[in-house]
Amino acid sequence: MPNPLVFATHNNHKLQEVAAKTGSQLQLLSLTDIGCMEDIPETGTTFQENASIKSHYVFDRYKVNCFADDSGLEIEALNNEPGVYSARYAGEHGNHEANINKVLTNLNGVTNRKARFRTVISLLWNGEEHFFDGTVNGTIRTERVGAQGFGYDPIFEPEGYDITFAEMSMEQKNSISHRAIAMEKLIDFLNGKQA
Ligand code: IMP
Repeated sequence: MPNPLVFATHNNHKLQEVAAKTGSQLQLLSLTDIGCMEDIPETGTTFQENASIKSHYVFDRYKVNCFADDSGLEIEALNNEPGVYSARYAGEHGNHEANINKVLTNLNGVTNRKARFRTVISLLWNGEEHFFDGTVNGTIRTERVGAQGFGYDPIFEPEGYDITFAEMSMEQKNSISHRAIAMEKLIDFLNGKQA
């Protein structure tokens, strides 16, 4: 019988990415699969805290091994804003367009364009918490370029490339992204446990 492992997300795309890389010993389930329809509150002030809040929320209610991720963009010249507020930088009902506009306005005339995307994963595995992280460094463009991806992708140029995340194919972005790096660490851990 495969071991159930819940990924605390409603995002099926994220779930499939991980499911493709874990062995058949694990039965990967989403929040929808376990009937958890609530939006888990993200009240923390760090990625680690938010990931941990989400994994504990699921564990406390469903008593099942689970993990959660939290990601965002940190811009050096803006004291690491928007950080944990990346999704709601332009307000609770803000959207990606408004969020990007706010970043570009705040960086208007600023020469230090350094930024990084970060992901932290909290895994609750047999009663113990493990963290995995991923970072990708880069710079913020002065205007949008590209139509792929989501969020801040059109203004983020990863280090070592002269295109933005939004100009990359999904496969290319997924091979270097902050989320991919953190997920690889998680998958290595899980596959080690299943060996
Ligand atoms: P989440 O924790 O993965 O839901 O990410 C929170 C927010 O960070 C998103 O709504 C985006 O604004 C931003 N973000 C996270 N990852 C990415 C990415 O890969 N590209 C662009 N924006 C991202």
